[in-house]
Amino acid sequence: ISPLTVSLRVNGVAHELLADPDTSLMTVLRNDLNLNGPKYGCGLGQCGACTVLVDGVAARSCVIPVGKMRDREIVTLEGLTKDGVLHPVQQAFIDAQAAQCGYCLNGMIMMTVSFLKDQPEPTEQQIRDALSGNLCRCGTHVEIIEAVKKASS
Ligand code: FES
Repeated sequence: ISPLTVSLRVNGVAHELLADPDTSLMTVLRNDLNLNGPKYGCGLGQCGACTVLVDGVAARSCVIPVGKMRDREIVTLEGLTKDGVLHPVQQAFIDAQAAQCGYCLNGMIMMTVSFLKDQPEPTEQQIRDALSGNLCRCGTHVEIIEAVKKASS
């Protein structure tokens, strides 16, 4: 397939670039826009490492064709930081020392930002349910849950 011009808006900046419209959003973010917040875990929509916000809602960028992103507002982990100040959820994850290898944290943080918009004062069970689809292989779930509690308090 010949590459076509695709348009997308990421972290408040409009981009036009040549790509096969079926290329995953994650690939374009990482390889064309050098936004390495979204991580390549499974590439199958199953682990959550590649999560971004699309129109404010958490979405798995590895299974979204970039050609479908016209007129959508995409925010990556990088876009959460404003004027050098971390988003409260990012800060809470640091304060709770929630990272071991850190590979899952992009997804955990983006999912938390999306989740707390709908549920600003969640119970622990609601936090567990919200993050249950985001996989962490190190097993730092206790600290991750603490981070979400800090961010919501
Ligand atoms: Fe996208 Fe695993 S890399 S869900």
